[in-house]
Amino acid sequence: MPLPIESPADLFPYNTFGMKVHGLQMTRISTPEALPEVLENNLQQLPFFILGGGSNLLLTGDVRAWILKNECRGIVKAAEDDRYVYLKAGGGEVWHDFVIHCIAQGYAGIENLALIPGTVGAAPIQNIGAYGVEVKDVIRTVHTFDLRTGVFRDFDNSACGFGYRESVFKRDYRNILFVYAVTFRLDKEPAYRLEYGDIRKTIDDMKLPLSIASVARAVIHIRQSKLPDPREIGNSGSFFKNPELSAGEYGSLKERFPDMPGYRIAEDRVKVPAGWLIEQCGWKGYREGAVGVHPRQALVLVNYGGAAGKDIYELSVRILESVEERFGILLEREVQVY
Ligand code: EPU
Repeated sequence: MPLPIESPADLFPYNTFGMKVHGLQMTRISTPEALPEVLENNLQQLPFFILGGGSNLLLTGDVRAWILKNECRGIVKAAEDDRYVYLKAGGGEVWHDFVIHCIAQGYAGIENLALIPGTVGAAPIQNIGAYGVEVKDVIRTVHTFDLRTGVFRDFDNSACGFGYRESVFKRDYRNILFVYAVTFRLDKEPAYRLEYGDIRKTIDDMKLPLSIASVARAVIHIRQSKLPDPREIGNSGSFFKNPELSAGEYGSLKERFPDMPGYRIAEDRVKVPAGWLIEQCGWKGYREGAVGVHPRQALVLVNYGGAAGKDIYELSVRILESVEERFGILLEREVQVY
């Protein structure tokens, strides 16, 4: 049976940076069974481009590929024991809706990850994280289809190669493995993580009782106060990763820049907030035409409307260069650039 194909594919609604670009053609994948059919129908041997929520993506031009939009939906309870419940969620589910679903059922573990844009299927790819929690902490299995070999393959947590905003899916299998579902292990009893930033203070200030719903409300409040809403201003969240330095490197920088914040993440490793480095270089709130650096969070580059992807990219190069010149630190982009 021929697959429904949209051609050309307008990608403007599907990237939160709001880039006006097209793909060659697009097919919406709503069940994993459609994936082998895609391979059978790819007579021209087009490259594939897998699209989730388009919220960690900078498109610098038209995408000369067959866009596979992940619309696999559904949330089912796969298993349960005394302590945990295992939920299998379709890769095309909206991440925040899944968080709300879990909270409504009383399942704990991802309340700190409320309001992160994107989809369930994209969550493991860059191991989304916020406020002291990373999604790798709750992922049990990532269910994939290999667009090269046509084979379905499940990755258990240890096979995913998770790191800080990293995984094998991002490193080795970009646009090769289609994540059609993810199985999560959620706690029936919450283990609250309130130490990061202002979560505890926000809960107190909002006079909320301690619950997973309150944690999510506090996180939503903090995010909304700092981060631009992509529906209003084009952006892809943090554009760069927070760099990790050795304790020695951090120590000598701290002598020259005594205010430099740093968080010890291992005995000899310190993470420095890239937002601070960028702000120190004078970029916070910078604007030139349609592109800029967000006034409340210097880690977020924004499209005020009508910018081209290459304008954002060029701004990111200038930021990289100035941070390197001032601090000798080479920032790494977190956003995937195409
Ligand atoms: N800071 C500044 N100036 C700024 C921004 C930050 O000085 O303009 C410094 C401050 O010292 C602040 C510290 O950076 O205390 C940390 O800032 P924040 O709590 O906003 O977090 P972040 O390190 O900038 C990371 C994630 C975010 C996540 C937040 C909260 C990365 C690349 N980003 O940002 O994730 O929401 O922590 O956990 O790790 C994303 O990945 O898209 C994202 C938004």
